Amino acid sequence: MAKKTPAGWTRKHLLGLEDLSAGEIRHLLDAAEKFLPYATGTRPARALAGKPPVPPGPLANRTVLNLFCEDSTRTRTSFTLAAERLGARVIQFQAGTSSLKKNETLLDTARNIEAMGLDAIVIRHPDRGAPQAVAEAVNCSVLNAGDDAHEHPTQALLDFLAMRHKLGRLDGLTVAIVGDIRHSRVARSNLHGLSKLGSRVIFVGPPPFLEGLGDIAAPVETSTDLEAVLPECDAVMMLRVQFERHERNVPNGAGPPAQHPAEGGVAFDLEDYKRGYQLTAKRLARAKPGAIVLHPGPINRGLEITDEVADGPQSVILHQVTCGVAVRMAALSLCVGALERERKSAKPSPLTPPLSRSTQRLSTGHKGRGRQKRGLSREGRGRGKSSAGA
Ligand code: MLT
Repeated sequence: MAKKTPAGWTRKHLLGLEDLSAGEIRHLLDAAEKFLPYATGTRPARALAGKPPVPPGPLANRTVLNLFCEDSTRTRTSFTLAAERLGARVIQFQAGTSSLKKNETLLDTARNIEAMGLDAIVIRHPDRGAPQAVAEAVNCSVLNAGDDAHEHPTQALLDFLAMRHKLGRLDGLTVAIVGDIRHSRVARSNLHGLSKLGSRVIFVGPPPFLEGLGDIAAPVETSTDLEAVLPECDAVMMLRVQFERHERNVPNGAGPPAQHPAEGGVAFDLEDYKRGYQLTAKRLARAKPGAIVLHPGPINRGLEITDEVADGPQSVILHQVTCGVAVRMAALSLCVGALERERKSAKPSPLTPPLSRSTQRLSTGHKGRGRQKRGLSREGRGRGKSSAGA
């Protein structure tokens, strides 16, 4: 990865916020601000290139691969629109019908598609550290669209842009992030970014959802008492209970599984959870006047948030989604810009770099069916720790 300089943006990858400086985060947000008029598609991004008639946008003739190995609505659509509005061609990788099903590893998949000519890979993967591993294995830019409960950098950046619009600043704020913190990459990326920008983050939830945070190097403030925390809050970010990331749940017949833990599961009761942590209008009234409500989506209406709050005047949830396209336009154009500078200055090199020894392990391991299917070997699990900034 290129070294950063305080003046600008020199990274060809965006893997997480833990590694970024406050200056780099502000740089991304300022770039996103400029893209905002183009993000809704009402002004064609190619106008950014200057004088008409100028067909190409900033990423004209570039190719972006959306390598999503987990479900997604907002993030995949948002990255697709961002890349297309910059003029790029986007390839949608379908994990379920790909050679990953034939036990090809993720790294082989990425290197093979890159060999057809790629400028950026946008990756979402259930294994922590997978984006970092792919970044080490390919030459093109890599952007993390969510890895396990590790990082989701563009989600946090879009949250910051929405907060800056609605609250006018990103320093000196108190932001409560409420719910299933333990399984949330959004909470982690928000903590890394907001604390660098000078705001205070309080993770709020029942004890089982506040466990397992030992991987976070930054100081973590937690509370189990939402009502006590709310009067201090400028912003309240509600999280979905991420059932699919709980190791195992006991189905309770109808609706999401939740009642009691099975082996490796999370002990909590849905009705207790709603009683203690659902954001209702009555609860929200305890927050500071003008406090805003955020949610990364997907919303589970009637569980973590009521309709009245989700659709109410303090909710900025749909504005977050709009900001997301602008943030991803900024991230793609800055990272691919850095890649292009690197390509111009580089000596001719093989199309794909040799794999480092640690990366070779990810590329060759066949340590279990589940992981084989996903294309990362079991060793991939530990990578996020050493590449926690990734
Ligand atoms: C994520 O991908 O982590 C989402 O944005 C939040 C969620 O899934 O609840």
